[in-house]
Amino acid sequence: MTTTTLFLRFFLLFFLFFAFGVGSFSFASANANSGKESDNKYLSELRSKLQIEPITPHIDALSKFSSSEDELKGVTRLVYSKEDLEARAYVKNLMKKNGLKVREDAMGSIFGRLEGVEKSQKGGGHVVGSGSHTDAIPLSGKYDGVYGVLGAIEALGALKRAKFQPRRHLEAVMFNSEEPSRFGMACSGSRAMGGVLDAEKLETLPDVLNASTSFFDAATQAGYGSKWRGEKNERARTAKEMVEQCSLMPMDSHYYSFVELHIEQGPELEHENLDIGVVTAIAAPAALEITFEGDGGHAGAQLMHLRNDAVVAGSKLAVAVEEFAKHSGSVDTVATVGGFTVKPNAINSVPRSAVLEIDVRDIDLKRRDLVVEQIISTANKVASEQRVRVNVRMINKDDPATSGDSAMSAAELAASHLGHTQKRMVSRAYHDTLFIAKACSNVGMIFIPCFKGYSHRPDEHSTEDQMRKGVETLALTMAKLSRERPIVEDHEDVNQEHVKLPFFISEDDEENNNAKTDPPEPNDEL
Ligand code: GLV
Ligand code: MN
Ligand code: MN
Repeated sequence: MTTTTLFLRFFLLFFLFFAFGVGSFSFASANANSGKESDNKYLSELRSKLQIEPITPHIDALSKFSSSEDELKGVTRLVYSKEDLEARAYVKNLMKKNGLKVREDAMGSIFGRLEGVEKSQKGGGHVVGSGSHTDAIPLSGKYDGVYGVLGAIEALGALKRAKFQPRRHLEAVMFNSEEPSRFGMACSGSRAMGGVLDAEKLETLPDVLNASTSFFDAATQAGYGSKWRGEKNERARTAKEMVEQCSLMPMDSHYYSFVELHIEQGPELEHENLDIGVVTAIAAPAALEITFEGDGGHAGAQLMHLRNDAVVAGSKLAVAVEEFAKHSGSVDTVATVGGFTVKPNAINSVPRSAVLEIDVRDIDLKRRDLVVEQIISTANKVASEQRVRVNVRMINKDDPATSGDSAMSAAELAASHLGHTQKRMVSRAYHDTLFIAKACSNVGMIFIPCFKGYSHRPDEHSTEDQMRKGVETLALTMAKLSRERPIVEDHEDVNQEHVKLPFFISEDDEENNNAKTDPPEPNDEL
């Protein structure tokens, strides 16, 4: 072979490599870019069509369903109470008014659906959900949870009015009892949906409203539990059946994505003057109850060296709890002695018992559990030093959750389309999304600022403008997620269907659709 032929061969190889290699590369990136361009195009059009109605009137209306004697002292709404049932009726009515199809599960979580055109479950989940809770701890504010339920309904209502065409179904959710206020267990509805609620545990939960009522009885009295009938006439004759009926497992079979809207409940967004927080991870709580028991005695007659004072033991532990959290090595670790009950609680009696309710949270499971271990071993050490008896009861220990990439990017894209300032942040409070993460790998949360970061208190507040920005960000996020190409199954038919499906429903299609699927006329009576 001459040098010239060798050179020509090399040249040919070089040419082929560039012609096909780089060519196919630029073809792929052109495709990716055109995906982004088409996202930008329909999201811009959608943004110009979105009309968000005020949320405040509904926040105020729901705050009236409260058992607090004085409205100014805050809202109290415990699960399955009269006020809770009134709030549920309001929510269902509002869902219907916004054109959503309403369904309830066996525990009482409520779902309002805007139908998409997705026929199969290929692609991991056929629903994009958003929602929160309407139950309220004693003397709380009006916005915690309530904003996320009303915001999801309004986002779907606005998408429907804008004639947006979802591919996956869109669902607004009101979760059954996120707060632990009545039965001592948080997130009952989402825990069951995530398949991690132990039905046996339900039997033993103490009821603060009526000592003789079990969770299942209270659910049944409220029209759920054994009174519930599913869409296909399914029944829930026992607590176990009730819990099973609510499960959305296996993982990713129902939700493709779930994004909860919530007030921040902390001060970061307000301090930094930002509109939107895109949540990267949700810290998870562990809850323990530690009881110290001494022998008590007369506060005057019993000499100091003869006492085994339960409050002194409890106080030593309370101080240690704070120290362990402060020295965990991360600001994300927090620990609180939220309950401290003394018996007999009389000024002239040496305390016989001290019960501490302790809440420990972190986004890192190992670090959180290390603090829990330190607390338990210190409780034992203090008990022996103070010569009191000790009992440790682990109430619950939940796992933290991490947001999905596509849920976070959709929220970021939505916020930037709308011109809202934003940052990524951690959720230090727990939320129903923590448990939906057990049934859906692509979860996320959108935070809005609230006044001084106040929450769980009557002066909790977000402005109408702050709430509107959150709702429109949610609407665009859900729209984007409902139209995303399936991740799991990327087969041709689905892609074809995706490309062909218009982003907005035409007048003609709407007339045909309405004839088939319009929900019943809203019932204005609550
Ligand atoms: C929820 O209410 C929490 O305590 O984080
Ligand atoms: Mn709360
Ligand atoms: Mn909440």
